[in-house]
Amino acid sequence: MNTEKPLILPIKNIITENERVKTFVFEYEMDFAPGQFVMTWIPGYDEKPFGLVSRVPGEFMITVAAVGESSKALHNMNVGDLVGFRGPFGSTFSLPEAGSIALIAGGYGMASLFNLAKEAREKGIDVHVFLGARTKEELLYLDWMKELGAILHVSTDDGSEGYKGFNVQVFSDVILAKAGIQTGSPNGVGDDKVIFTKAYTVGPEIMEMKVADICYQNNIPFEVSLERYMKCGIGICGSCSVDPVGWRMCAEGPVIDGEKLKQITEFGKYHRTASGKVENYPWNKD
Ligand SMILES: Cc1cc2nc3c(=O)[nH]c(=O)nc-3n(C[C@H](O)[C@H](O)[C@H](O)COP(=O)(O)OP(=O)(O)OC[C@H]3O[C@@H](n4cnc5c(N)ncnc54)[C@H](O)[C@@H]3O)c2cc1C
Ligand code: FES
Repeated sequence: MNTEKPLILPIKNIITENERVKTFVFEYEMDFAPGQFVMTWIPGYDEKPFGLVSRVPGEFMITVAAVGESSKALHNMNVGDLVGFRGPFGSTFSLPEAGSIALIAGGYGMASLFNLAKEAREKGIDVHVFLGARTKEELLYLDWMKELGAILHVSTDDGSEGYKGFNVQVFSDVILAKAGIQTGSPNGVGDDKVIFTKAYTVGPEIMEMKVADICYQNNIPFEVSLERYMKCGIGICGSCSVDPVGWRMCAEGPVIDGEKLKQITEFGKYHRTASGKVENYPWNKD
């Protein structure tokens, strides 16, 4: 697919993941790299970026949480309805040559990480997935990750599946267990003492922030996908620029490595709305 030529495709299949999330399948060989997104035109509403996923050749998918007008409109569409696409766009995740990687995902974050896990497994890299959700029903891609042979560390806020608590805690516990430090937590027990070569995180920014802190403290190189409000998706309008460096998250991002992330001072503090107005995150009291 070429960025010069927008594409219109019928929805081939719709998978209802849970009450809030659906996966839409399209028959098209999308040539993308893990971490990239596609601008998706929902006729009559808006154009929105969604992470690209592909399980089998000749098909791609987007996994969408119904949160606002456009995503809810997409949820109301049916098989055969037409959706427009521009892309793929954005920077991509990069894998180490060998070793063991950690993927920390919350919300719909697993969508942007699925093809990274797939590629890693194909290269013989061990993949540990720290998948967190509010409830068991909201755990995305669990079976697909099992099929890939990923090592799963599941957590839910209500304890309905896996560890009761946050995936960031499990990630931290596993790292400490690997370092031989007793935390009294059940997490990490029985794990081989494999040190993560690299970590990757996609999800709510508060989760990404905590993962970043853990990685900095433990000297684990990492990459994060940083979502900002996107309009053009191709680096022209500036709506997705971050302070103070001005990098556009649709072009220089959304995938940013841990070293560069140190220069993005708004990370974990605030973002900009559609009008460009700064909106503090609720936990930011600066
Ligand atoms: C690079 C990138 C990749 C993305 N990938 C995905 C993806 O794979 N799947 C996906 O579902 N979305 C993804 N998004 C988010 C998506 O593009 C839209 O922002 C989202 O669907 C909301 O659009 P809307 O028009 O429905 O809601 P809007 O009208 O924009 O927002 C409605 C309300 O929902 C809130 N809101 C917006 N986004 C979220 C959210 N994620 N969670 C909770 N509340 C929210 C807003 O603050 C607002 O109050 C991605 C965004 C970026 C930048
Ligand atoms: S969305 Fe326009 S510059 Fe990124």
